[in-house]
Amino acid sequence: MPLILGIETSCDESAAAVTDGPRRVLSSIVATQHDLHEEYAGVVPEIASRAHLQRLMPVIETALHDAKVSLQDLDAIAVGHTPGLIGSLLVGVSAAKALAWSLNRPLIGVHHLLAHLHAPALDDEPITFPAISLLASGGHTSVYLQTSPLEVRLLGSTIDDAVGEAFDKVSTMLEAGYPGGPHIERLARQGDSTAVDLPIFKPRGDTISFSYAGLKTAVLYALRGHPTGRGKESTFPRSLADCSPQRRADLAASFQRCAIEAIMRGVRIAVNTHKPTSLCGGGGVLANELLREQMNTLAKENGTTLRIPPMQYCIDNAAMIAGFASHRLTAGQVDALDLQAQPRKAIGTS
Ligand code: KG4
Ligand code: ZN
Repeated sequence: MPLILGIETSCDESAAAVTDGPRRVLSSIVATQHDLHEEYAGVVPEIASRAHLQRLMPVIETALHDAKVSLQDLDAIAVGHTPGLIGSLLVGVSAAKALAWSLNRPLIGVHHLLAHLHAPALDDEPITFPAISLLASGGHTSVYLQTSPLEVRLLGSTIDDAVGEAFDKVSTMLEAGYPGGPHIERLARQGDSTAVDLPIFKPRGDTISFSYAGLKTAVLYALRGHPTGRGKESTFPRSLADCSPQRRADLAASFQRCAIEAIMRGVRIAVNTHKPTSLCGGGGVLANELLREQMNTLAKENGTTLRIPPMQYCIDNAAMIAGFASHRLTAGQVDALDLQAQPRKAIGTS
């Protein structure tokens, strides 16, 4: 099996990992930057790329050390080269190119989202196909049909915000903390999820698509009332201080219920249409207990195997990059040293 070093720097995690074949993870190191972005309640691109520059080399050294391999033992260098923040991607892509060139090993560019779809196979059994996969994170909300590790079709995605982003924004409104998901989940446990009437996005018929902008605005209005005035001049009749702790918890619980109901509607349509043998999940939002419960119920109802990786592989990591690259290497899909970092690149849309 090929020994591959994977590098991941697409957003705010500097990560490196070594895998032996597509599924065996020898090491996986992730240096998160949450502390650096917390005060801005979102990822600041310049801060992220600077932090990658400082952290990536030590992270790679630790990954090699923990895997007990040297650079010379490696068969290939893989890197997440798209999609992501351009300044962040460039750090990983440059490091991967330098290593591949100096070691004279193949360079393998990996699409970050395809790597997420591969994550359930890490340290586990191969995924059986066809698979329906939900990707829900701070940057993505999409449902895919996979017929092999390299063959993927996009069934639907968000038309505006990602669901994780909505959790983050609502958490900021409630001054609950960043990243928002875990804070909203904690608050929601003390709230009544039917207390506040919020909209659930439902496109026509069996169309799979998601939207979180309307839900986010509805939470803002429920919290602070309808604004008067326009643009920067607009003011809200209430402030967060006017909102009781119980009302905040009810808002968090109601938001969470609606956000997840909208996701599950799309996943349910995909499962009913394509009758997959596996139902997979990936991305940080899959940490959410309500979402996991509902995925589990849907899988059971359909006799489908649920494959949600442990959290360390759900969130951004480099083991998924290296593991997925193993499939590409086996298929002869390697890249030249002019591989580009690309902020955007859709998969499975043609
Ligand atoms: O995959 P991830 O770690 O990073 C990227 O966005 O690429 O996902 C982070 C997102 C954040 O928006 C965070 O608020 C959300 O996942 N998240 C959650 C939970 N834990 C993290 N959302 C809902 N419930 C959670 N328990
Ligand atoms: Zn990701």
